[in-house]
Amino acid sequence: MAGRIPQHFIDELLARVDIVEVVGSRVALKRSGRESKGCCPFHNEKSPSFYVNPVKQFYHCFGCGAHGTAISFLMEHDHLGFIEAVEELAGRAGLEIPREGPEAGPKDRRDDDLQALMTNVTQHYRSALGEDERARTYLKQRGLTGETVNRFALGFARNSWDDVLNTFGATAAGREALMATGMLIERDAQNARGAGHYDRFRDRVMFPIRDARGRVIGFGGRIIDQGEPKYLNSPETALFHKGRELYGLYEARQALRQVARLMVVEGYMDVVRLSQAGIHYAVATLGTSTTPDHLNRLFRVCNEVVFCFDGDRAGRAAAWRALENALPQARDGRQLKFLFLPDGHDPDTLVGEEGKEAFEARLETAMPLSEYFVQGLLQDIDLDSVDGRAQLAEKAKPLIARVPEGVYRELLLDRLAREVRMPAQRLGQLLGLTHRTDDAGQGGGLVGTQANGFPGGARVATASSGRPARPTLGQSVSPGRGNLVRQAITLLVQHPIAARGVRDGGELDGVERPGVALFLEMVAVLREEQIGTAQLLERFRGREEHPALERLAAAESLVPDATSATNELRDLYARLVLEFGPKQRQDALLTKAADLGLSPEEREELRQLQAKLRPKHPAAS
Ligand code: UTP
Ligand code: MN
Repeated sequence: MAGRIPQHFIDELLARVDIVEVVGSRVALKRSGRESKGCCPFHNEKSPSFYVNPVKQFYHCFGCGAHGTAISFLMEHDHLGFIEAVEELAGRAGLEIPREGPEAGPKDRRDDDLQALMTNVTQHYRSALGEDERARTYLKQRGLTGETVNRFALGFARNSWDDVLNTFGATAAGREALMATGMLIERDAQNARGAGHYDRFRDRVMFPIRDARGRVIGFGGRIIDQGEPKYLNSPETALFHKGRELYGLYEARQALRQVARLMVVEGYMDVVRLSQAGIHYAVATLGTSTTPDHLNRLFRVCNEVVFCFDGDRAGRAAAWRALENALPQARDGRQLKFLFLPDGHDPDTLVGEEGKEAFEARLETAMPLSEYFVQGLLQDIDLDSVDGRAQLAEKAKPLIARVPEGVYRELLLDRLAREVRMPAQRLGQLLGLTHRTDDAGQGGGLVGTQANGFPGGARVATASSGRPARPTLGQSVSPGRGNLVRQAITLLVQHPIAARGVRDGGELDGVERPGVALFLEMVAVLREEQIGTAQLLERFRGREEHPALERLAAAESLVPDATSATNELRDLYARLVLEFGPKQRQDALLTKAADLGLSPEEREELRQLQAKLRPKHPAAS
């Protein structure tokens, strides 16, 4: 993941891949005029309203409004990050991704090599399972079918110190790669056997851990029957980061067309067994508690996440830790729930005993985060004593402070206030929190910026709060006709080639009208390079204007073809200059000054225009 992906590569990539093929490999499409259409994969529908346009290289659903480029499609549909989506497309097109920056190239090639090694080791373990009666019997005893074993690519590490070492580590480079993936452990010279390497995983059933794209990045190995440790996991490596990865997420997305909810369970076996029972939406963290990174991932896939824990003490402690980590991710529109299983059970045993329906019925009774939060806080607190209230305040304060300011925090506060029979306002004061009424907050704490999955991203989370956004293009520019700048931008987005109709002589430089700077920037880009709609949109990914530009691309075309677009834009540009060109603007303001008088802002604008238009005298030397 080193180095930035250069823009010219994105341009080339989008020119090489065909969005109709990319979408068509995941959604059934039919030709419809120049476009292709099908049933939208982003919402449920019976009659097709999802269109893919090969000229714009852009998709758009008239039903739910989903839209974007091939890259956006993979991000949304396959739930990939920006880089992952680009990698996927590049793989399809057989292109190698060049990287900018100091550590470009070599590291990526190395990651690819390590990746290939992990794939080979996985295959090796799978065939070893086929040859080992004892391991196969064990999995059968645990109730797994051959189909499930294959779907999760389960395997077996032989009872040997050097099986993997000998198979893949014949050369020094091979051993070094095995070390880098955590498959070998180094033995130092003090050891009786002398310096060397040996296999990390021996005599274990192997669970490959796959990343979002299905590539194996690590393993969990379970001992057969009894022994310590019960599970052994790959260490952190260049490929494998426990705080980010979720076991079963790839398999869940493979099994389900639409993921409505995800359930976080504790173990590998739980995920596998639930899936076999027809509950395909379970994932497990890898021997760590759920991190905010995990939650970000989960909420990129769906907006309901259920934590599932054992009912025992350890389970409760783990649940509370999960709650603490979840608070920063809590917000309107996201559902977080907690399910506690009967003591002595885990999902694996339970679903085995009672089956899918009964288990899913339990899910319906899961406790919403707000309720668990209040219950947990009020435990062991006597609200009738002064002490008790002080205690509550002390306990609640750091927790509530972790919840992003906004509607959801207010709801939690209200809920707690009701429980302790105190006006929310007063409770807020007690906790040292003020009810927000203004919009003074800086830095957008509501929107986790690392959540975006693309560099410098600013994809705004849905329904983040009641906070009014600054008026930007998002509001001022909407699809369709409208003011001149909006029309000009729409033409450019839909028919980038129309930029040749603009004879930009700097007439609009410095005009401070909404959208004018953006329009000029787009013209500059398009005069430099002949790119299409999708490439143009990708240039603006991560920018504040990006969502609005995408909406304009999705809007109905204003003109039938490129030639009329070019003519239309030439005309629009002339009108823009007439309206906004500094000379024209100055004249208009002067007329108005004589006529109706000027507002303070207009007076200031006029002053600045006059300063700008005043003929410049050569500086005295
Ligand atoms: P559990 O001990 O609950 O095991 O650990 P389990 O999932 O029920 O396994 P089975 O049913 O006995 O096979 C839950 C998870 O904690 C991690 C593993 O990820 C495991 O799936 N774990 C547990 C370890 O990493 N190491 C261990 O020694 C034990
Ligand atoms: Mn278990």
